[in-house]
Amino acid sequence: MVQIRNIEDLGALEGKRVLIRADLNVPMKDGIVTDDTRIRSVAPTILALMDKGAQVIIMSHFGRPKGKIVPEMSLEQLAQPLSDVIKKAVVFIDNCIGNVIKETLDAMESDAVLLLENLRFHAGEASNDADFAQALADNADFYVNEAFSCAHRAHASTEGIAHLLPSAAGLSLEKELAALESALGDPRRPLCAVVGGAKVSSKLDVLTNLVEKVDHLIIGGGMANTFLAAQGVDVGASLCEHDLADTARAILAKAAAQNCTIHLPTDLVVAKEFKAGADCRTIGLDEVTSDEMILDVGPATVADLAEMLTSCKTLIWNGPMGAFEIEPFDAATVALAKAAGQLTEQGSLVSVAGGGDTVAALNHAGVAGQFTHISTAGGAFLEWMEGKELPGVKILEK
Ligand code: 3PG
Repeated sequence: MVQIRNIEDLGALEGKRVLIRADLNVPMKDGIVTDDTRIRSVAPTILALMDKGAQVIIMSHFGRPKGKIVPEMSLEQLAQPLSDVIKKAVVFIDNCIGNVIKETLDAMESDAVLLLENLRFHAGEASNDADFAQALADNADFYVNEAFSCAHRAHASTEGIAHLLPSAAGLSLEKELAALESALGDPRRPLCAVVGGAKVSSKLDVLTNLVEKVDHLIIGGGMANTFLAAQGVDVGASLCEHDLADTARAILAKAAAQNCTIHLPTDLVVAKEFKAGADCRTIGLDEVTSDEMILDVGPATVADLAEMLTSCKTLIWNGPMGAFEIEPFDAATVALAKAAGQLTEQGSLVSVAGGGDTVAALNHAGVAGQFTHISTAGGAFLEWMEGKELPGVKILEK
């Protein structure tokens, strides 16, 4: 297993300035944070570093301002929510580089943290510009990355700066990497993956990588339709990428060659309309009419999958089984999530899930707390499932 530097490796921090890369790119509505998971995940590291006598500086991006100052994307709006979580004063400064940062730090109370303005107001952040990385590094003695959800970006604050300052992973990044390693790096087998979501095209690399690594691959959501159609099932008016039939068949063939069992639906829930409470029926694979859409996996499929999961030791989950955001098409996702949550609680399964939709689906099923590890990362979690190297993690290797 690859070893990552952690905050203990940084040595004595008394009186030192530590710059933390957080991901404060949190969902907001009308100026209110609607999910503060990412803020909470960085809090233990902030407090641990303060306990060690360090002066803490937080940097993050928010949205995609593309190198321009976009007032609605200012991190100022995160100062109070951050302060509420860490129960410390947060001083905000409207830049992330320049002498003004040092001057502010010199004048600050030792018990307060400094929050910098949105990194992406500078074009040098996304282009990983060496001068911009140096300007960030100039204000600190150490760098700590606590933003797994940004680790797939080789940006100045996630990669460039780690070449310039002694650097380490924060506590939650460390925990996240350990959980991911136990799921895909060195898993207890049998290992099962659930990959759902609308389109095969958006998760092609995930599927291709996973069939080489997992023992069971459950395919759900709209992408299952593409696989069914590729095998000659008439999917009616369902979401389906018919042009990817050859690709789907190639993935099935590769899975067979690698001893990976692919699980596709054996019964279906279909409706003529995609709306809450729409008339729907549960049918076999050969019964979809031309005006019907497949909107969920059927209960017989879910029962078989739940049974199969009892023999598995590790589960990785990304993407819902059906159109879970509208009832009753959430049934399969909820039932399978509950089965996985229960097996995890009983101690027979290690379960790791990630991705925005997935976390929402598991929360909706009320089982997020039962899973071994839930990643709040979206793109980074997918790239990890694709087997790609994450630049923000790679640079922290010992
Ligand atoms: C995320 O929300 O997944 C991270 O904050 C990364 O954001 P990005 O896709 O804009 O780089």
